[in-house]
Amino acid sequence: MQTDFLVIGSGIAGLTYALKVARDCPDKKLLIFTKTTSDETNTKYAQGGIAGVWDHEKDSFDKHIEDTLIAGDGLCNEKTVEIVVKEGVERIKEIITWGAEFDKDQDGDYALGREGGHSEFRILHHKDVTGKEMERVLLEAIKTQPNIEVITHCFVVDIITQHHLGYLVTKSTPDIECFGVYVLNLHTNKIEKVTATVTLLATGGNGQVYRTTTNPVIATGDGVAMVYRAKGRIENMEFIQFHPTALYEPAVKGQAFLITEAVRGDGGILRNLEGKAFMEEYDERKDLAPRDIVARAIDSEMKKTGTEHVWLDCRTMDKEKFLKHFPNIYERCLSVGIDVLRDMIPVAPAAHYSCGGIKTDEWARTSIRHLFAAGECASTGLHGANRLASNSLLEAMVFAHRAYLHSMEIIRNTSDRDSQKWAVQNIPDWRAEGTSAPKEMILITQSLKELQLLMSDYVGIVRTNKRLERAMRRLDLLHEEIEDLYKTTVVSPQLCQLRNMITVGYLIVKSAQFRHESRGLHYNTDYPAKSELVQNIVL
Ligand code: FAD
Ligand code: SIN
Repeated sequence: MQTDFLVIGSGIAGLTYALKVARDCPDKKLLIFTKTTSDETNTKYAQGGIAGVWDHEKDSFDKHIEDTLIAGDGLCNEKTVEIVVKEGVERIKEIITWGAEFDKDQDGDYALGREGGHSEFRILHHKDVTGKEMERVLLEAIKTQPNIEVITHCFVVDIITQHHLGYLVTKSTPDIECFGVYVLNLHTNKIEKVTATVTLLATGGNGQVYRTTTNPVIATGDGVAMVYRAKGRIENMEFIQFHPTALYEPAVKGQAFLITEAVRGDGGILRNLEGKAFMEEYDERKDLAPRDIVARAIDSEMKKTGTEHVWLDCRTMDKEKFLKHFPNIYERCLSVGIDVLRDMIPVAPAAHYSCGGIKTDEWARTSIRHLFAAGECASTGLHGANRLASNSLLEAMVFAHRAYLHSMEIIRNTSDRDSQKWAVQNIPDWRAEGTSAPKEMILITQSLKELQLLMSDYVGIVRTNKRLERAMRRLDLLHEEIEDLYKTTVVSPQLCQLRNMITVGYLIVKSAQFRHESRGLHYNTDYPAKSELVQNIVL
């Protein structure tokens, strides 16, 4: 297959980019690959909303910038923060014109919510299912573009560079170039090569590396692992954000249900097992302190009382208001016997968001030529050491737009990309000789369990040097075993995902080991204080 533009991922970043490119270039072809159904994405599960300065009387760009910088704990790129905050509002207006509906108050103004770390009410939302609404609008819009083809159930295995043409490629090779991808088509079970002039990675997060996560099963860090294998730059992987309040359901495996921070924004209070509202002991902003502080406080309370959850108390909240803003949470809790206006909700932190990822510049360019990255898989410099709530949908749209603008320049100036033409003729087919069908799935499922356990136990909210060392030793063994399996087994999504997740685990631990301080989401009791010295860690 050959295409002008190739997009990997059908969440907010991939779809926003695809729509813009396809509208601007009606004579060019754009392919979107997605590994399961087109709407199964982190985007679909976003609850709280999208941050943006809307009420210019009370709020300002400067305040949103300041809040983002404070949450990022000294590691944000100030230029990126300014770009996202200022351009973000235009992107929100755009998706509204495409049909997204955000809740309004009685006066017809947008009903703005507030979440941890925000000094003002500035979160636009669609009830408590904002991401689902945005995904709906984007999927509808791309259906109207005849030059976009969405191919579901296609698992991208690797990006194609000079390495596949027989050249030695290392981290110091200048001008590593992306020619396309190898993709496992699950309709045919064949690996196909697909070449493209421009490729965008929009592969989302990696929460599945942990045992408890708010992320769906697709969030396995594939994009980051692919770029790392291709010798591209990855940064800030130690900053994994744990959401303070996922519904605690010990019997549930897989994705944990989120109780949005907006519930605390509307008056929900965290209490320990003795019923005490404990956040005032940890931060003057109490329940609305940034996420790293709240998650650590909950972790500490759980350790003190020897329990696996704390309580979120919504009992004094206005029933009508709660049902209007959070109908999905109300119904979900009721389905497991919790009436949130009468009973407290058991909650515990869960892995939620990867602040680091594929290093990109202000035009969403990666360190590999003709390869862009946007959305959660990218590290743009916006989040620094800790993401401010509801800034990621915004970031995804801003950098999808910027990737689109720069892609237009590439496509205008490379009508005749010689290296591409040459590569198309010379890229070898996928070699499957010497591999056989997997005999035992247990080798994959057991390694996955081990990985998730070790990451949760040793590389969670609180870390120590010893725990990181242990994690690395175990990861080394898992890496050795998976590489062995990968060389001898016919590839499957399960095998590739596990391989990618082990790589991502390694990148998280390695970056954590390099950071000899505690900052933002990375808290190591062997270095409890911040240091002036440690900047972004690039691997
Ligand atoms: P995703 O939406 O995750 O899409 C990833 C896509 O990549 C999928 O289509 C997947 O199939 C595809 N893909 C991945 N690997 C491969 C592969 N190997 N081959 C082919 N396809 C592949 N952020 C906010 O700003 N506000 C919120 O209120 C908010 N709430 C959240 C609530 C929850 C429960 C979660 C999990 C996240 C929340 N976030 C929120 C974060 C935000 O939703 C995500 O960061 C954002 O949606 C990521 O969008 P994306 O386009 O980068 O990736
Ligand atoms: C939430 O709704 O609490 C999640 C918001 C986010 O992750 O940005």
